[in-house]
Amino acid sequence: MSKQLPRITYSNVNADLSDFHDYLDQAIPEFERAVLSKTWSTPFATGAAVGMASPIDPSLTLGNFPTSSPADIQTAVAHAREGAKIWNHATVAERLGFAERWKAQITEAKYSLGLAALYEVGKSRIEAMGEAEEAQDMLDYYPAELKAHDGFRRPMNQLVAHETALSVLKPYGVFAVISPFNFPVALSIGPIVCALLAGNAVVFKPSPECALTALMIAQTIKDAGLPDGVFNIVLGGAEVGRLLTTDEGIDGVAFTGSHNTGMEIFRHMATGRWMKPVLAEMGGKNPAYVTKNADLDRASQGVVRSAFGLQGQKCSACSVVYVDNQIKDAFIERCKSFAAKLIVGDPRKAGTFMGPLYNSATADRFAKAVAQVRANGVLHFGGEHLDGKPMNYVVPAIAEMPGPGDLTRQELFMPFLVVRGVDNLEEGLREGNSTSYGLSAGVYTENQSELELFLGRAEAGVLYANRASGATTGAWPGAQPFCGWKGSGVSGKGGLGPYYLPQFMREQSQTIMTK
Ligand code: UN1
Repeated sequence: MSKQLPRITYSNVNADLSDFHDYLDQAIPEFERAVLSKTWSTPFATGAAVGMASPIDPSLTLGNFPTSSPADIQTAVAHAREGAKIWNHATVAERLGFAERWKAQITEAKYSLGLAALYEVGKSRIEAMGEAEEAQDMLDYYPAELKAHDGFRRPMNQLVAHETALSVLKPYGVFAVISPFNFPVALSIGPIVCALLAGNAVVFKPSPECALTALMIAQTIKDAGLPDGVFNIVLGGAEVGRLLTTDEGIDGVAFTGSHNTGMEIFRHMATGRWMKPVLAEMGGKNPAYVTKNADLDRASQGVVRSAFGLQGQKCSACSVVYVDNQIKDAFIERCKSFAAKLIVGDPRKAGTFMGPLYNSATADRFAKAVAQVRANGVLHFGGEHLDGKPMNYVVPAIAEMPGPGDLTRQELFMPFLVVRGVDNLEEGLREGNSTSYGLSAGVYTENQSELELFLGRAEAGVLYANRASGATTGAWPGAQPFCGWKGSGVSGKGGLGPYYLPQFMREQSQTIMTK
C-alpha cells in the first residue's frame, strides 16, 4: 500500500496528496482501535505501567507504559556491554545487512510509526508522516555512506619501503541515545542507526512521553534481527537520563534536546578517567530575513510555515523575522492573511495544519509571551485560546517588538513569531546573530549581493534562501546537513550529512611492515 502513496518530505507542500489522505482516513480509526490503550512491557523497565494521555484530547489514552528503575538501567548497560563484545567486531557487511533488514521493517511500519507520532505529539498528518519518511531515508543515506567509504578504512601514505599504513574508524563501545519528544521517530532512528552502523551497542532512552513510538521502533529492530544485547531500551524522564549518561559503562552519548541538559551531559562526560564523546543537538533561535528585494508571497508563506508548523515546537522553527522597514507593513499583512488560512484543530483531520501544544506548560508560556507583547509591543495576529478546545489549543501569534529582548533572543518552542523592523539586511544580521544559538536561518531576496551577504555572515549551520515551504525548517537526510553552531551543537558536524556517522567512531592508524 505505502509504495503507491506520495512521499511526504516537508517540502512538497503543493503536491496532490488526496490518495495519502484517503488512506489515512481509513488507517486512523484502525490505528486507534488496534494500537492505542495497550499495556506495554519491555525487559529493562520493571516499574508499574502508567497511563499516558494524548495531547490531542486528555481522554485519549496512548497506552500504559512502565518506567525503568536505577537497577534496570544498570542491567541494560551491562547487557549492552555484552552485546558490544560481539557487535564491536561486526564486519561492514554484517552492519549493512542489519541496516537493510531494518529499513525493510521501517518501510513496513512507516504509516504506523507516523500515526504513533501524530497521537503522541499532536502533529499534523503531514508533519507526522514527514518524519516517518525522513527516518526511512536515513536508513538509505547512512548505510550508503558506510559502504561508499569502505567502512571508513583508508590507505595512508607509505613512509618507507615495505610499510603499509591505514586509517581505520572503529566503534567506541556502547552509546547512549537520548531523543526528544518533538521528532520521536526521526530523531531516534537517526542516531540509533549511526551508532549501530558504526559498530556500537546502544542503550536508547526516548522522551518520557514518547514510549509508544520508542517501543514500536524497538520492535522493528527486534524483527530486523540483531545479536542479543546490541540494542536496549530504557524508559523514564530526566533522572533515568542522568543515571544512564553518568553510568561508567557508557562510552559516548548522542543527545537531542534542550541546551541546558546538553551542556550538563557534556560537562559530565569530561569528569571521568577520560573524556567521552558527546554529540548534541540543542535547540535554536532561528531568524529569517526579508529584504525590500524579496518576493513577499514566498517570504510570508515560508516564514509562517516554519514558525507555526508542528506548533513551532521544532529546534529549527523560525521564531523571529527581521524585515526591511520599507516593506514591513505589507509583509505583516501577507503573513496575517496566510496564517488566517491555516487550520488549527484536531491533527487527525486532513486539512489541519497545526494541532495542540504539547503540554500545559507550553500553553502557559504562550499566554505569558502574549501578555508581554500586549504590554510592550503590537500583537498583529492570534495569541488567543482556540474556542471549544482544551487549553493547549491556541491560535498562533504574530507579534512585533520595538527592540531586542528575551522574545527575540530566547528559544520559544511555541507558535509565536516575533517581527522586528530593520533598516537593512546588515542590521538584521547583526541582531539575528546576537543570540547564543546558531542552528538555522533563512533569507528572502532576489538580489545577489544580499544573498551573498547572508551566506557569508549568518552564524548558523543550516542556511536557506527563498524557500516557500519553510524559511528555516525542513532539513532532509542527504540533502541538508543539520549542524548546530554555538549553543545549538557541540562537534561542528551535523546530522543528516556526510560527517555524522564517522562521529560514532574513533580513529586507529595501523602501520604494518610487510618485510
Ligand atoms: C528539529 O527541528 O527539532 O529540519 C529537528 C527540520 C527537521 C526537524 C529537525 N528535519 O525542520
